[in-house]
Amino acid sequence: SSAVKMDHPDKEALRGEVVPVVIIGNGPSGICLSYLLSGYTAYLSPDAAHPNPLLQSKLEEQPHLSLLEQDLEYLCEGLEGRSSNPVAVLFDSLLLPNSDFGLEHISPLEWRHRPEHAIPHLVLGKGPPGGAWHAMEGSMLTLSLANWMELPGLKLKDWMRDKRRNVRNDRATPAEIASYYQHYVSKMSLEQNFACGTTVTSVTRQAGTQDGAPPCWRIKGLQRREGEVLGDGCSAPEAEPFSLLAHNVVLATGTHDVPARLGVEGESLPFVHHSFWELEAAISRGELSHTSDPVLVVGAGLTAADAVLASHHLNAPVYHVFRRSVADPELIFNQLPKLLYPEYHKIHQMMTQQQYQPSPASYSGYLSFPQCRVVKFRPDRKCVLQWDSGQQTVVQISRALVLIGALPNLSFLRDNGRPLGLSPKEAITCRRNPIDVDPYTNSVLAAEGPGMYAMGPLVGENFVRFLKGGALAIASHLNRKRREARGGGPP
Ligand SMILES: Cc1cc2nc3c(=O)[nH]c(=O)nc-3n(C[C@H](O)[C@H](O)[C@H](O)COP(=O)(O)OP(=O)(O)OC[C@H]3O[C@@H](n4cnc5c(N)ncnc54)[C@H](O)[C@@H]3O)c2cc1C
Ligand SMILES: *[C@@H]1O[C@H](CO)[C@@H](O)[C@H](O)[C@H]1NC(C)=O
Repeated sequence: SSAVKMDHPDKEALRGEVVPVVIIGNGPSGICLSYLLSGYTAYLSPDAAHPNPLLQSKLEEQPHLSLLEQDLEYLCEGLEGRSSNPVAVLFDSLLLPNSDFGLEHISPLEWRHRPEHAIPHLVLGKGPPGGAWHAMEGSMLTLSLANWMELPGLKLKDWMRDKRRNVRNDRATPAEIASYYQHYVSKMSLEQNFACGTTVTSVTRQAGTQDGAPPCWRIKGLQRREGEVLGDGCSAPEAEPFSLLAHNVVLATGTHDVPARLGVEGESLPFVHHSFWELEAAISRGELSHTSDPVLVVGAGLTAADAVLASHHLNAPVYHVFRRSVADPELIFNQLPKLLYPEYHKIHQMMTQQQYQPSPASYSGYLSFPQCRVVKFRPDRKCVLQWDSGQQTVVQISRALVLIGALPNLSFLRDNGRPLGLSPKEAITCRRNPIDVDPYTNSVLAAEGPGMYAMGPLVGENFVRFLKGGALAIASHLNRKRREARGGGPP
């Protein structure tokens, strides 16, 4: 079988043909790009005024052009914001002007659906649309203000208001956000572009043929049979192989597929876990209580904080080990506004005030071990810890949760995608070694051929608020290439 079989007749039409664009990953990145490729185009609204007068006057120069036809580099000039990516700052400023100042300025963009401008594309993803958000469902809270997670054309607030009576504050749970993304795909009629239950296993460059077919990308993978229940069944024996050709391929897999490991002795012992989900499973089996030995949580990010919260709610004792000092400005808790995130603020307080002492005066079920690391786990459920000072301690635990971030799984690319990174010998990560792309087109600089793009956490843009800029850069480059191929040339 050579085609991706989907429940929609349009997709069957792609059988055997070269697909203009294949997007790998169906999280917020893939969804946002699919929206822009489906003919949704933004124009400057005639009665709009962007609070930045320079940007407003640039937009007014050619108001008949859609955002996808404008010169992004020109529009970006002189803009500043919280992302180092210029197009991300531009798009954010157009969608949510002045939101850094807590102001709700109306967007100067007006969206029109022009299906005749659509570029046919396919979005491949392992699970349902929404990506990483489906994997965080157990989490207690979210990080950004809710409107920072929304995609163009559908206000998250409006959707939430329809869904639940009382919107208590500007936050939403991951489960709600995941459901918003799924709803978005159907509301914008993007479903026919989505093939869920598909896992890409290889992307290679295919040479042109003698009869004149140009070189393109060969994408191979596995598709779960229809009707099969979702789970981790992607690799189930029922999965059928597929293979397709594409002129352009977009890497939008996120960086949350493989939990990071400490790399210490005993890390594979059965009581050492690497996902929040495993803690939830233990909780639902009733294995956590105030009588059990402490749960050791390693890490000081939000997932680790969620694990501390969840254990604490059940009165299960917690040992919390992390490398940084509690006052480190890089620590996420030192960056969150206290008022908006009272629960996380509480954790930070505990981290500061309930630090481990050799002879504890009182023990209230939580102890923090700042500037400390795990040396090894022993089969008798004892864990050896070492402080930055070199001093060691052995603690008895019931289980350990190592929640120190995640890495992408780019096993479908040569050498796991390493040659594409800023440091081509190291593994791709969101923060330290993202994929190196052109800032205005998101083209992968070290790709084996033209037409490979990357976006989202893979290029260091971890927040939904800013990854939308990558979608704009890619969609506008694809549009420009199409106009040029049709002889129209750039406007
Ligand atoms: C605990 C946690 C909390 C977060 N909180 C926030 C927050 O509050 N605000 C915010 O803006 N961001 C937050 N983020 C970051 C957020 O996850 C990302 O901004 C966003 O999900 C990235 O979108 P994406 O589409 O690029 O990737 P993802 O959402 O990761 O989606 C990519 C999808 O592609 C799939 N995929 C991977 N490989 C393949 C393959 N070979 N074939 C097919 N499919 C594949 C993946 O399984 C995944 O489902 C948080 C992340 C975590 C882990
Ligand atoms: C990466 O993905 C491939 C293909 O889906 C899978 O076989 C492999 O086990 C994954 N690797 C890790 C480390 O999870």
